[in-house]
Amino acid sequence: MHVEHRHLARLMLGASGLGRRAESPGDEAVARATARALVASGRPIDTSNAYASGRSEQLLGRALRELPAAEAADAAARIVTKVDADPQTGRLDRERVLRSADESLSRLGVDRIPLLHLHDPYSITFDEACARGGAIDALVELRDSGVAGAIGIAAGPVPLVARYADIGVFDAVLVHNRWTLVDRSARALFERASLQGMTVFNAAPFGGGLLARGAASGSTYAYRPATEELRRWVARVEALSARHGVTLAAVALQFSLRAPFIHSTIVGASSVRRITTLDDLADAVVPDELWSELAAMPSAPTWIDDDQEERR
Ligand SMILES: NC(=O)c1ccc[n+]([C@@H]2O[C@H](COP(=O)([O-])OP(=O)(O)OC[C@H]3O[C@@H](n4cnc5c(N)ncnc54)[C@H](OP(=O)(O)O)[C@@H]3O)[C@@H](O)[C@H]2O)c1
Repeated sequence: MHVEHRHLARLMLGASGLGRRAESPGDEAVARATARALVASGRPIDTSNAYASGRSEQLLGRALRELPAAEAADAAARIVTKVDADPQTGRLDRERVLRSADESLSRLGVDRIPLLHLHDPYSITFDEACARGGAIDALVELRDSGVAGAIGIAAGPVPLVARYADIGVFDAVLVHNRWTLVDRSARALFERASLQGMTVFNAAPFGGGLLARGAASGSTYAYRPATEELRRWVARVEALSARHGVTLAAVALQFSLRAPFIHSTIVGASSVRRITTLDDLADAVVPDELWSELAAMPSAPTWIDDDQEERR
């Protein structure tokens, strides 16, 4: 089974922030406008059962229903989602996977999901996921019945994703924050997965903010505070980018886009403006000398603790 061609756009829009702040009528209006722009963008969209406690999928479903039928069907075929553990109990067995998929179908208002990932399986062991009647069996069942066009494994820790990828049942892998200007630890996994015919999604090329907003912004990397050392390293790349007349954000995005072992880069698209300005970043001219100078820099002082992430 393969991920359908239309999900292989080099850029995919991430909807993890969609609806996260929809608490006041003003926030709700912004979230609805963003959802409309996402479905109208023509790009594939990455969401999950758990994003904004289901609001991300609900807002996308609502935006789909506002479209004429043919456009809605086309946009729906570009929405990728994920099955998540029960938010109360952490349960992630067969029953929960089937329920999670059902919830997603109903929120999105669709009867099929082109690609369905197993998302952040941190509340269960690998052996539990692989056991007969476990989460993976349920995903395979959903693919066999046609509810899911393809299935993937999506998480942060590289060793964990590699273990799942090596089972040989997944069509796709998604890793976040491990192939960026400052963390290149996903490379071997991505190369192997790509050679084995899996589709490779690289999420969070800005490290969740730091590599778009810059060292002085106080932004986090991989959703944790950045150390002083890391900020200093990022400031050097910012200075290098400025010397070559490009922004740090353009360099960070294109670092992922130019990797031959990545099929699709997933960028957080939290507003209409972020969606409409993405092409400028993707198409900015980054001179070859910048890439050479970047390659000559000492590696960045990153500190992602994969074990800690699994214990979250
Ligand atoms: N386990 C998983 O499956 C998993 C984990 C992580 C991420 N993902 C997927 O990957 C997507 C992307 O991840 P992400 O959003 O965490 O990280 P990201 O794409 O690396 O960074 C997004 C952040 O960068 C900021 N940003 C983007 N463009 C900017 C610009 N031009 N100037 C200044 N700031 C800019 C955004 O700020 P604003 O908020 O101001 O727009 C946002 O805070 C997610 O939405 C999700 O779909 C999946």
